[in-house]
Amino acid sequence: QEFVSQGLPLSGKKVLITAGPTYEAIDPVRFIGNHASGQMGFELAAVAANLGAKVVLISGPSHQTATHESIRLEKVISADDMYHAAHKNYPDADIVICAAAVADYRPKSVSEQKIKKNKAELSIALVKTKDILLSLGKAKKKQYLVGFALETENELDNAKAKLKKKHLDAIVLNSLNDTGAGFGTPTNKITFLDTNSAIIPFELKSKAEVAQDIFSEIIKRIDA
Ligand code: CTP
Ligand code: CA
Repeated sequence: QEFVSQGLPLSGKKVLITAGPTYEAIDPVRFIGNHASGQMGFELAAVAANLGAKVVLISGPSHQTATHESIRLEKVISADDMYHAAHKNYPDADIVICAAAVADYRPKSVSEQKIKKNKAELSIALVKTKDILLSLGKAKKKQYLVGFALETENELDNAKAKLKKKHLDAIVLNSLNDTGAGFGTPTNKITFLDTNSAIIPFELKSKAEVAQDIFSEIIKRIDA
């Protein structure tokens, strides 16, 4: 059954992708989340599958759909769920891309009952979530590991710092400065950076085209 994907650039490769937001529960009916749509991660999964890879797509809550038969979608809710799903699928992955907008903080405790509005002010203590990408970087063996960096200032310096700190092979800087780029839009403006100091800027494009550009850069590097 393997012959259909032979000859494609990612034939025989396993690609692991994280996508979407995470939701961190406050009580049985409320959560802390963000506006990520998951689209960038789903486009990356589609491109990888079309290039012949077997894809595991771990996504937080999202309305996106994956139709390619080589994509296995694992749905998760919280950062902690995503951490466990990512590590479970990590050992035999060849290429790993963390495109999820993981919540940086979660409520320190989850109220068992719905919180009542019986106080004029309410504070919720938050604690940091696990950094999934950092933990994957520390556990890295054969994997080509790619992260995203969403920055609004000192973009290149911040992206380079994340590339190094998280032990990545490459990082995709997502620029929010240009109109039409980023969260809730169908377009992105990215710069691809790698550990050999390459800095490759791209034009504002559809997320599907951005996904193609990202895999072109990765493929050049895994066979080099
Ligand atoms: N990431 C992750 N787990 C987290 C937080 C982030 O896997 N708990 C990943 C994201 O998927 C992305 C990368 O880390 O690939 C960078 O995310 P970003 O939010 O830009 O950076 P942070 O490291 O969270 O730092 P900060 O938000 O303070 O800039
Ligand atoms: Ca963050």
